[in-house]
Amino acid sequence: SFKAVIFDLDGVIADTAVVHHAAWKKLADEIGLPFDDAVGERLKGVDRRASLEILLENATRSYSEAEKDALATRKNDYYRQQIEHFGPENLLPGAREAVAATRRAGLKTALASASRNAPLLLERLGIAELFDYVVDAGNIRHAKPDPEIFLAAAAGLGLAPADCLGVEDAAAGVASIHAAGMAAVGIGQAQALAEADRLLPNIAAFDIGQFTT
Ligand code: BG6
Ligand code: MG
Repeated sequence: SFKAVIFDLDGVIADTAVVHHAAWKKLADEIGLPFDDAVGERLKGVDRRASLEILLENATRSYSEAEKDALATRKNDYYRQQIEHFGPENLLPGAREAVAATRRAGLKTALASASRNAPLLLERLGIAELFDYVVDAGNIRHAKPDPEIFLAAAAGLGLAPADCLGVEDAAAGVASIHAAGMAAVGIGQAQALAEADRLLPNIAAFDIGQFTT
């Protein structure tokens, strides 16, 4: 049975998947790039720069590195403007209890977020103390679906990947968990998360008892 649960943050614990989505859409609209739900779904879980590259797949001209830096910064400014005002009310329903119950069951907890805003968000949400280990996204070289971030979380906990259960709302995240050699719980809709070992509609449905028998 599992010794730890490694949680994604955006869209699993924090109600921020929609905020990232809106910020990318605003940027795409401003620079005249198409943006629909299919593109939005592909951006989920993927780091800032890789997300921008996905957005620019539809561009009709090329962008310099300096222009890309500016666009990524612009998107982040839009995102930050929203989360500045965040507090515990922006936790997804049941999220705090899912993590707390995992700890009460004697398992360790870690956070594997691709977001460089994760430390700020954890403070705002008031849940920083619920995690035994938080991966520093700034130290990760390969974005999800690469396994690096989940492997770093397991290493930070001092556990083998097979002892860890990953929880994700993004297809790229589920792929990252599996590539790391872990079992994956998908949070959300079946069409986006077909590869997950278990699918739950939301984090409130996460019952650690189902994974510790
Ligand atoms: C992930 C989100 O958690 O973090 C993505 O799902 C986001 O939407 C990525 O692009 C990087 O976040 P940030 O805050 O560093 O731009
Ligand atoms: Mg996510």
